[in-house]
Amino acid sequence: MKFEYQNPTHLIFGAGTLARLGEVTGAYGKKAMIVTGGGSVKRNGTFDRAVASLKSAGISFVECDGVEPNPRLSSVKRGGELAKKEGCDVVIALGGGSVMDAAKVMAAAVFYEGDLWDMFPHGQANRRLPAKALPVITVPTLAATGSEMNSGAVITDEKTTIKSFVGGKCLYPKAAIVDPELTVSVPKDQTAYGICDLITHVTEAYFNGVDGTPVQDRFAEGVILTAMEYGPKAVADGNDLEARAQVQWASVVALNGWVQAGCLAPYPVHMIEHTLSAQHDIAHGAGLAIVNPAWMRFAAKNRPARFAQFAHRIFGIELKSADDMDAALEGIDRFEAFLRSIGCPTRLSECGIGDDRLDRYAEDTLLVAGNAEGQLPGRPAMTKADIVEVLRSAL
Ligand code: NZQ
Ligand code: ZN
Repeated sequence: MKFEYQNPTHLIFGAGTLARLGEVTGAYGKKAMIVTGGGSVKRNGTFDRAVASLKSAGISFVECDGVEPNPRLSSVKRGGELAKKEGCDVVIALGGGSVMDAAKVMAAAVFYEGDLWDMFPHGQANRRLPAKALPVITVPTLAATGSEMNSGAVITDEKTTIKSFVGGKCLYPKAAIVDPELTVSVPKDQTAYGICDLITHVTEAYFNGVDGTPVQDRFAEGVILTAMEYGPKAVADGNDLEARAQVQWASVVALNGWVQAGCLAPYPVHMIEHTLSAQHDIAHGAGLAIVNPAWMRFAAKNRPARFAQFAHRIFGIELKSADDMDAALEGIDRFEAFLRSIGCPTRLSECGIGDDRLDRYAEDTLLVAGNAEGQLPGRPAMTKADIVEVLRSAL
């Protein structure tokens, strides 16, 4: 193993921590832009509490509302222009992953010259990463993406329906205020999709990473087992604050880079899913619940021992040999059954998606994430035909 790790985000975790928003923001400026989504934070009182905390710290604000799930490039441009025009010092993301991702790119847009879409890979010759951004403070209201404590953002260009990603040091939030009380109003379906998303963040590295990462394996298994223990409780009773807290902590660690350190893993399941949520506007976690088990059955043939380990350590399935393929497949079946049990779809048809655009999904995936050989990195690397095969198996 050879790697470097640094995550500069100041994490403040716990019920009631929203009250510290003003104090935390005050370290970065006097005028904030608050980014919100479709209105959930207004309906459940989170916005008013955030504003009260800012006011008590003497911080003024403007609001950029209306960021949609699977956030669009036009919304990000609008927010960047507003922050610039209003002379904001700091950007506060108050919402789910979509709001946080949009807020990060808005913060970078203030300093970015030229077309914002140049930050994102989409088949262009030259990509220009952002070098500078306003300080961002994330306040997640949904446990899922881990965006609150990482440097990534996923945005859709609605003109081309390409969903792509950007990452960069300047996009790390300065602080993340992670208050599980804010997630009690998340409906059952979004709660379940978030659980699937956080699990998939660690399975990507578990199955696609380099060999010889035993500590990381155990971290990943710990995240999965914890999500499988507390996730169903959070789905069953949204007001179960203990379950909400454990799920949210799992979602933070699942993608703040710690579990993946040294694994050097690409994210093929994510890259395929992004084309589905871009084209059909489905929830990212729902798309993952469909793609991940199908991809696992495809990838298990290439690496049976790793999938057998998953079956044994996560589901206690006895192995006849280290590369017991029957056990590996049983583990995948059990995983899929878990996803169904919490209310996730596991077939494309459940989201109204048929087989008429399978080639297009594969092409878009490769446009964003393909390597020089025109394959999607992963274990194994996937050709266009492989991607189509996986999606066809999930119809
Ligand atoms: O828009 P509002 O009204 O706020 O409602 C949202 C939205 O409809 C609602 N919601 C959020 N918090 C709530 C709530 N409803 C009631 N009570 C609350 N407390 O939930 C709906 C979904 O929100 P969204 O932000 O879209 O969900 P999520 O957090 O799953 O984010 C998904 C986006 O993040 C990207 C995905 O591709 C997708 O675009 N990802 C970002 C990553 C990153 N930056 O690291 C990694 C992920 O793998 C992912 O790709
Ligand atoms: Zn994800």
